[in-house]
Amino acid sequence: MSDHKTHFGFSTVDEDEKAGKVAEVFHSVAKNYDIMNDVMSGGLHRVWKHFTISTARLKKGDKVLDIAGGTGDLSRGWAKRVGKEGEVWLTDINSSMLTVGRDRLLNEGLILPVSLADAEKLPFPDNYFNLVSVAFGLRNMTHKDAALKEMYRVLKPGGTLLVLEFSKVYKPLSGAYDLYSFKLLPVMGKLIAKDADSYQYLAESIRMHPDQETLKQMMLEAGFDSVDYHNMSAGIVALHKGVKF
Ligand SMILES: C[S@@+](CC[C@H](N)C(=O)[O-])C[C@H]1O[C@@H](n2cnc3c(N)ncnc32)[C@H](O)[C@@H]1O
Repeated sequence: MSDHKTHFGFSTVDEDEKAGKVAEVFHSVAKNYDIMNDVMSGGLHRVWKHFTISTARLKKGDKVLDIAGGTGDLSRGWAKRVGKEGEVWLTDINSSMLTVGRDRLLNEGLILPVSLADAEKLPFPDNYFNLVSVAFGLRNMTHKDAALKEMYRVLKPGGTLLVLEFSKVYKPLSGAYDLYSFKLLPVMGKLIAKDADSYQYLAESIRMHPDQETLKQMMLEAGFDSVDYHNMSAGIVALHKGVKF
């Protein structure tokens, strides 16, 4: 047991318990993850990811690391952008999510290097990647500061980090958003993924995640420059960008 506490949704847990609890969530939802994403976002997650992929400045032959890549949506987009001469790593800490992602990309004819990797201890050399991405993953990490520093370490000077994550919704919409998140989402989770608790955790973890300005500050503290963000869907999600100079 550790002396340090952290959040798992609205619960307070020992720091060394959180990763195990997050692992249970993603082992449980992996098989239904993609269909749930479409249903609960009404397909919007595809627009958020498309925007993320289209804003990146990439060229053929670049090297990209997709952290917490799960079922591979961003990796697929990166692979198309960097071409056969490029290198795109699909990584995640969770073997169930990574297996679904790897199989899905293989079925689409994409063979990418895949690695079971904890964002807080990345198994990659310093100054290696042109771009690092993390979509809807940072929220689940125990030591977000350590993960951001690792992302900084593996980027080449001039390289970019993109963090796509749920964020703070515009105030006038917060009542309706709460109703949706805490009443409807767990029911959808129960009906489709046979798991209400994991989708209750999703709603809670979004509320506990740093807002736009706080995450910007955390990225600056990890060493990034030119940090900025772009809100989408009234702040339901934000895309943060930072550069390693
Ligand atoms: C909501 S899914 C996002 C998957 C994918 N990026 C997407 O946008 O659809 C969050 C992912 O974060 C992964 N994750 C959680 N903690 C992690 C860590 N410390 N290192 C790497 N991946 C982690 C989970 O295993 C899960 O696959």
